[in-house]
Amino acid sequence: MKVLGIDVGGSGIKGAPVDTARGALLAERHRIATPQPATPKAVARTIAELSAHFDWKGPLGCGLPTVVLNGAVCTAANISRRWLGVDARRLLADATGCEVSVINDADAAGYAEMHFGAGRRQAGVVVLVTLGTGIGTALFVNGHLVSNTELGHIEIDGEEAEAWAADRVREAKGLSWKKWGKRVNAYLTRLENLLWPELIIVGGGVSKRADKFLPHLKLRTPVVAAKLLNDAGIIGAALAYEHERRRSGQRLTLG
Ligand code: BGC
Repeated sequence: MKVLGIDVGGSGIKGAPVDTARGALLAERHRIATPQPATPKAVARTIAELSAHFDWKGPLGCGLPTVVLNGAVCTAANISRRWLGVDARRLLADATGCEVSVINDADAAGYAEMHFGAGRRQAGVVVLVTLGTGIGTALFVNGHLVSNTELGHIEIDGEEAEAWAADRVREAKGLSWKKWGKRVNAYLTRLENLLWPELIIVGGGVSKRADKFLPHLKLRTPVVAAKLLNDAGIIGAALAYEHERRRSGQRLTLG
Protein backbone atom coordinates (compact mmCIF):
# COMPACT_ATOMS: atom_id res chain seq x y z
CA MET A 1 0.00 0.00 0.00
CA LYS A 2 1.21 3.55 -0.71
CA VAL A 3 0.39 6.09 1.99
CA LEU A 4 1.60 9.67 2.44
CA GLY A 5 3.20 9.72 5.91
CA ILE A 6 3.30 13.04 7.76
CA ASP A 7 5.14 13.79 11.00
CA VAL A 8 4.18 16.99 12.80
CA GLY A 9 7.06 18.12 15.02
CA GLY A 10 7.79 21.19 17.11
CA SER A 11 10.05 22.77 14.48
CA GLY A 12 9.22 20.99 11.23
CA ILE A 13 6.39 19.18 9.48
CA LYS A 14 7.84 16.40 7.35
CA GLY A 15 6.28 14.05 4.86
CA ALA A 16 6.92 11.52 2.14
CA PRO A 17 5.01 8.80 0.30
CA VAL A 18 5.70 5.45 1.97
CA ASP A 19 5.56 1.89 0.66
CA THR A 20 4.05 0.27 3.76
CA ALA A 21 5.07 -3.26 2.76
CA ARG A 22 8.76 -2.33 2.77
CA GLY A 23 8.70 0.56 5.23
CA ALA A 24 10.53 2.61 2.62
CA LEU A 25 10.14 6.19 1.41
CA LEU A 26 9.10 6.37 -2.24
CA ALA A 27 10.40 9.92 -2.71
CA GLU A 28 12.72 12.27 -0.91
CA ARG A 29 11.03 13.61 2.18
CA HIS A 30 9.85 17.21 2.16
CA ARG A 31 9.99 19.47 5.20
CA ILE A 32 8.18 22.73 5.90
CA ALA A 33 8.84 24.74 9.07
CA THR A 34 6.07 24.32 11.64
CA PRO A 35 3.93 27.49 11.54
CA GLN A 36 4.01 29.56 14.73
CA PRO A 37 1.65 29.50 16.49
CA ALA A 38 0.95 25.90 15.43
CA THR A 39 -2.83 26.27 15.42
CA PRO A 40 -5.00 23.55 13.84
CA LYS A 41 -5.77 25.78 10.88
CA ALA A 42 -2.13 26.71 10.23
CA VAL A 43 -0.90 23.11 10.58
CA ALA A 44 -3.70 21.83 8.32
CA ARG A 45 -2.69 24.40 5.70
CA THR A 46 0.93 23.23 5.90
CA ILE A 47 -0.10 19.58 5.55
CA ALA A 48 -2.19 20.51 2.51
CA GLU A 49 0.94 22.17 1.09
CA LEU A 50 2.92 18.98 1.70
CA SER A 51 0.33 16.80 0.01
CA ALA A 52 0.23 19.23 -2.93
CA HIS A 53 4.04 19.02 -3.14
CA PHE A 54 3.69 15.28 -3.83
CA ASP A 55 0.55 15.84 -5.90
CA TRP A 56 -1.00 13.30 -3.52
CA LYS A 57 -4.49 11.90 -4.03
CA GLY A 58 -4.14 8.70 -1.99
CA PRO A 59 -4.48 7.95 1.72
CA LEU A 60 -2.64 10.01 4.31
CA GLY A 61 -1.42 9.02 7.79
CA CYS A 62 -0.41 11.78 10.19
CA GLY A 63 1.46 11.72 13.51
CA LEU A 64 0.68 14.49 16.00
CA PRO A 65 2.46 15.28 19.29
CA THR A 66 -0.76 14.73 21.24
CA VAL A 67 -2.96 12.00 22.65
CA VAL A 68 -5.29 10.95 19.82
CA LEU A 69 -8.49 8.99 20.35
CA ASN A 70 -10.65 8.12 17.35
CA GLY A 71 -9.06 10.88 15.31
CA ALA A 72 -9.65 13.54 17.97
CA VAL A 73 -6.93 15.45 19.85
CA CYS A 74 -7.15 15.07 23.66
CA THR A 75 -3.99 16.83 24.95
CA ALA A 76 -1.77 19.73 23.88
CA ALA A 77 1.50 19.76 25.83
CA ASN A 78 3.78 21.08 23.10
CA ILE A 79 1.37 22.48 20.58
CA SER A 80 -1.23 25.26 20.54
CA ARG A 81 -4.02 24.61 23.05
CA ARG A 82 -6.44 25.31 20.25
CA TRP A 83 -5.95 21.68 19.26
CA LEU A 84 -7.82 20.43 22.32
CA GLY A 85 -10.98 18.60 21.25
CA VAL A 86 -10.33 19.09 17.53
CA ASP A 87 -11.36 16.24 15.22
CA ALA A 88 -7.96 16.16 13.50
CA ARG A 89 -8.97 13.37 11.14
CA ARG A 90 -11.80 15.44 9.73
CA LEU A 91 -9.81 18.69 9.73
CA LEU A 92 -6.99 17.12 7.68
CA ALA A 93 -9.38 15.25 5.40
CA ASP A 94 -11.15 18.53 4.65
CA ALA A 95 -7.84 20.35 4.07
CA THR A 96 -6.33 17.73 1.73
CA GLY A 97 -9.26 15.82 0.23
CA CYS A 98 -7.48 12.60 1.24
CA GLU A 99 -8.61 9.72 3.42
CA VAL A 100 -6.85 10.39 6.71
CA SER A 101 -5.79 8.61 9.89
CA VAL A 102 -4.18 10.33 12.87
CA ILE A 103 -1.96 8.84 15.58
CA ASN A 104 0.29 10.02 18.41
CA ASP A 105 3.77 10.80 16.99
CA ALA A 106 5.69 8.50 19.36
CA ASP A 107 3.26 5.65 18.70
CA ALA A 108 3.90 6.21 14.99
CA ALA A 109 7.68 6.04 15.46
CA GLY A 110 7.15 2.92 17.58
CA TYR A 111 5.19 1.18 14.83
CA ALA A 112 7.99 1.89 12.35
CA GLU A 113 10.75 0.62 14.66
CA MET A 114 8.80 -2.52 15.63
CA HIS A 115 8.07 -3.38 12.00
CA PHE A 116 11.26 -2.36 10.25
CA GLY A 117 13.80 -1.12 12.77
CA ALA A 118 15.36 -1.81 16.15
CA GLY A 119 12.33 -3.62 17.60
CA ARG A 120 11.85 -6.11 14.79
CA ARG A 121 10.81 -9.56 16.01
CA GLN A 122 11.23 -8.44 19.62
CA ALA A 123 8.67 -10.12 21.88
CA GLY A 124 7.70 -9.11 25.41
CA VAL A 125 7.53 -5.53 26.63
CA VAL A 126 9.35 -2.92 24.53
CA VAL A 127 9.38 0.83 25.16
CA LEU A 128 10.36 3.37 22.55
CA VAL A 129 11.23 6.80 23.92
CA THR A 130 11.52 9.78 21.59
CA LEU A 131 13.69 12.61 22.86
CA GLY A 132 12.96 15.81 20.98
CA THR A 133 10.97 18.94 21.67
CA GLY A 134 9.11 16.81 24.22
CA ILE A 135 9.45 13.23 25.41
CA GLY A 136 7.16 10.74 23.73
CA THR A 137 6.72 7.07 24.56
CA ALA A 138 5.32 4.04 22.74
CA LEU A 139 4.71 0.81 24.64
CA PHE A 140 4.51 -2.58 22.90
CA VAL A 141 3.54 -5.92 24.37
CA ASN A 142 4.38 -8.83 22.07
CA GLY A 143 4.30 -6.44 19.13
CA HIS A 144 0.93 -4.91 20.07
CA LEU A 145 0.81 -1.20 20.75
CA VAL A 146 -0.64 0.11 24.01
CA SER A 147 -1.48 3.52 22.58
CA ASN A 148 -1.14 7.05 24.04
CA THR A 149 1.11 6.16 26.99
CA GLU A 150 2.43 9.73 27.67
CA LEU A 151 5.23 8.59 29.98
CA GLY A 152 7.23 11.72 29.20
CA HIS A 153 5.10 13.50 31.75
CA ILE A 154 6.00 11.42 34.81
CA GLU A 155 7.68 13.37 37.61
CA ILE A 156 11.24 12.92 38.69
CA ASP A 157 12.23 14.73 41.89
CA GLY A 158 9.19 16.96 41.56
CA GLU A 159 9.94 17.93 37.95
CA GLU A 160 8.17 16.76 34.86
CA ALA A 161 10.59 14.46 33.01
CA GLU A 162 9.94 16.18 29.68
CA ALA A 163 10.82 19.61 31.09
CA TRP A 164 14.11 18.24 32.42
CA ALA A 165 15.39 15.60 30.02
CA ALA A 166 13.99 16.34 26.53
CA ASP A 167 16.53 17.12 23.82
CA ARG A 168 15.15 20.65 23.68
CA VAL A 169 16.38 21.13 27.26
CA ARG A 170 19.88 19.91 26.32
CA GLU A 171 19.99 22.44 23.50
CA ALA A 172 18.42 25.34 25.42
CA LYS A 173 20.67 24.91 28.45
CA GLY A 174 23.76 23.94 26.47
CA LEU A 175 24.13 20.76 28.55
CA SER A 176 27.11 18.53 27.76
CA TRP A 177 26.32 15.05 26.45
CA LYS A 178 27.49 13.68 29.79
CA LYS A 179 25.27 15.96 31.88
CA TRP A 180 22.26 15.40 29.70
CA GLY A 181 23.06 11.67 29.51
CA LYS A 182 22.79 11.51 33.30
CA ARG A 183 19.32 13.02 33.14
CA VAL A 184 18.24 10.62 30.43
CA ASN A 185 19.69 7.79 32.51
CA ALA A 186 17.63 8.83 35.56
CA TYR A 187 14.50 9.01 33.44
CA LEU A 188 15.03 5.65 31.74
CA THR A 189 15.89 4.05 35.10
CA ARG A 190 12.52 5.17 36.39
CA LEU A 191 10.82 3.74 33.32
CA GLU A 192 12.59 0.40 33.59
CA ASN A 193 11.67 0.15 37.26
CA LEU A 194 8.02 0.77 36.46
CA LEU A 195 7.69 -1.37 33.33
CA TRP A 196 10.51 -3.92 33.37
CA PRO A 197 10.81 -3.90 29.58
CA GLU A 198 13.00 -6.31 27.63
CA LEU A 199 14.24 -3.56 25.35
CA ILE A 200 14.32 0.25 25.33
CA ILE A 201 14.63 1.99 21.96
CA VAL A 202 15.73 5.62 21.98
CA GLY A 203 14.34 7.62 19.07
CA GLY A 204 13.76 11.20 18.02
CA GLY A 205 16.10 13.43 16.02
CA VAL A 206 18.85 13.00 18.61
CA SER A 207 19.01 9.24 17.96
CA LYS A 208 21.42 9.96 15.11
CA ARG A 209 23.89 11.12 17.79
CA ALA A 210 23.37 8.04 19.94
CA ASP A 211 27.13 7.47 20.13
CA LYS A 212 27.36 10.69 22.18
CA PHE A 213 24.94 9.74 24.95
CA LEU A 214 24.36 5.98 24.95
CA PRO A 215 27.77 5.45 26.62
CA HIS A 216 26.50 7.51 29.60
CA LEU A 217 23.55 5.19 30.22
CA LYS A 218 23.83 2.53 32.88
CA LEU A 219 20.67 0.50 32.79
CA ARG A 220 19.66 -3.06 33.50
CA THR A 221 17.65 -3.13 30.27
CA PRO A 222 19.34 -3.28 26.86
CA VAL A 223 19.08 0.16 25.19
CA VAL A 224 19.48 0.67 21.47
CA ALA A 225 19.14 3.65 19.16
CA ALA A 226 16.24 3.78 16.74
CA LYS A 227 17.31 2.53 13.31
CA LEU A 228 15.02 4.56 11.11
CA LEU A 229 16.18 7.81 12.70
CA ASN A 230 14.16 10.77 11.51
CA ASP A 231 12.08 8.75 9.05
CA ALA A 232 10.41 6.64 11.77
CA GLY A 233 7.64 9.21 12.37
CA ILE A 234 6.79 9.39 8.66
CA ILE A 235 6.94 5.63 8.03
CA GLY A 236 5.01 4.84 11.22
CA ALA A 237 2.23 7.33 10.48
CA ALA A 238 1.76 5.61 7.11
CA LEU A 239 1.75 2.16 8.75
CA ALA A 240 -0.81 3.38 11.28
CA TYR A 241 -3.15 4.34 8.44
CA GLU A 242 -3.00 0.82 7.07
CA HIS A 243 -3.45 -0.64 10.53
CA GLU A 244 -6.45 1.53 11.33
CA ARG A 245 -8.04 0.80 8.01
CA ARG A 246 -7.62 -2.94 8.48
CA ARG A 247 -9.08 -2.69 11.97
CA SER A 248 -12.12 -0.71 10.94
CA GLY A 249 -12.53 -2.79 7.76
CA GLN A 250 -13.88 0.20 5.95
CA ARG A 251 -12.83 3.42 4.29
CA LEU A 252 -11.85 6.21 6.65
CA THR A 253 -13.43 9.64 6.72
CA LEU A 254 -13.30 11.49 3.42
CA GLY A 255 -13.16 15.27 3.31
C1 BGC B 1 3.25 14.89 24.20
C2 BGC B 1 3.20 13.52 23.57
C3 BGC B 1 4.21 13.45 22.42
C4 BGC B 1 5.59 13.87 22.88
C5 BGC B 1 6.60 13.88 21.74
C6 BGC B 1 4.68 15.24 24.58
O1 BGC B 1 4.71 16.52 25.12
O2 BGC B 1 2.43 14.94 25.35
O3 BGC B 1 1.91 13.24 23.10
O4 BGC B 1 4.26 12.14 21.93
O5 BGC B 1 5.52 15.17 23.44
O6 BGC B 1 6.24 14.76 20.73
